Amino acid sequence: MLLAIETSCDETSAAVVADGVVLSNVVSSQVKLHEEYGGVVPELATREHLRNLPLVIEEALSLAHVAPAQLTGIAATRGPGLPAALMAGYNTAQSMAFALDIPLLGVNHHEAHLYSPWIQGKPAKACFELLEPNVSLIVSGGHTLLVHVRGELDHKVLGGTIDDAAGECFDKVGKMVGLAYPAGPIVDQLAESGNPTRFDFPRPMLQDSSLDFSFSGLKTSVRVFLEKNPGVADSEMGLRDLCASLRAAVVETLVLKTARAAAQVGVKCITASGGVTCNRHLRRELEKLCKKKGYQLRLSDPSFCTDNAAMIGILAERRLASGERSPFDLETEPGWALA
Ligand code: KG4
Ligand code: ZN
Repeated sequence: MLLAIETSCDETSAAVVADGVVLSNVVSSQVKLHEEYGGVVPELATREHLRNLPLVIEEALSLAHVAPAQLTGIAATRGPGLPAALMAGYNTAQSMAFALDIPLLGVNHHEAHLYSPWIQGKPAKACFELLEPNVSLIVSGGHTLLVHVRGELDHKVLGGTIDDAAGECFDKVGKMVGLAYPAGPIVDQLAESGNPTRFDFPRPMLQDSSLDFSFSGLKTSVRVFLEKNPGVADSEMGLRDLCASLRAAVVETLVLKTARAAAQVGVKCITASGGVTCNRHLRRELEKLCKKKGYQLRLSDPSFCTDNAAMIGILAERRLASGERSPFDLETEPGWALA
């Protein structure tokens, strides 16, 4: 019975997992708090984590019907993430593990994302039993990564963004046209009734043979387009077409590079997680790709797409079982890149 904590960005989350099954997963989102600033303010995020952690932990334990004395381990995100936000969750986990005299493990947030598509609903089934070798797309406001998952705890990063993340591109373009933060879900909603072929935005780095992404050029090309065509986003139809055209460019790039990665490493399974995996067009296009190629597709359930402690717990339980421990003097690692 393991308690997991996640505070790498603006979600305070605690979960209880047992034998690869999620017994509870409580997420307190700070989106409303940061909305007026148009992005996450690290100091506010940390203060909010400190305020929410006791409540979220208590609720996760209570929903799982588990008392602190029944816990056999504690896990928390050690990195990557906002330095002070990470410390809030990790130091809480350290203190609890010390007080309860149980093992502690700090895990990599990106590595945990790799396993979130395998978390089952009810009836629950241990997610490591289901795992197939796959190419995993992690796509959110802070990261865009393609990873070859060869098996349990065995992975290799194939590519990543060299500048902005895909979600960041949606959020920044949304801000240019006056949409609230985070703009990704609003762009997605508006795009549903827009014309994706009306404006021809670049598909970044598609000609490049690497599996890296770049979304900063796309963002700049939309900015230049808006400077030359200032009235476009003022009309309802213009805004919808702009959102649909932007979404088409982002999704086409993500899906093509994911397909290329799967072919390159020879896997027949694609998985995806991270906030942008909620994007309807991305989900549809990945489904189309997998159907055409005969691949298995595992998209994270929307409740596990965004940052959550359940995925931290699932990974930590496996690592703790293999004997790994984090000594109490180990610190957080805000720049911990996945290899
Ligand atoms: O995983 P997440 O909650 O947090 C991190 O960034 O780590 O992802 C949030 C990101 C934001 O950039 C948000 O705009 C984007 O995911 N997002 C979406 C959608 N839902 C969330 N982007 C496009 N379409 C969506 N439906
Ligand atoms: Zn994340």
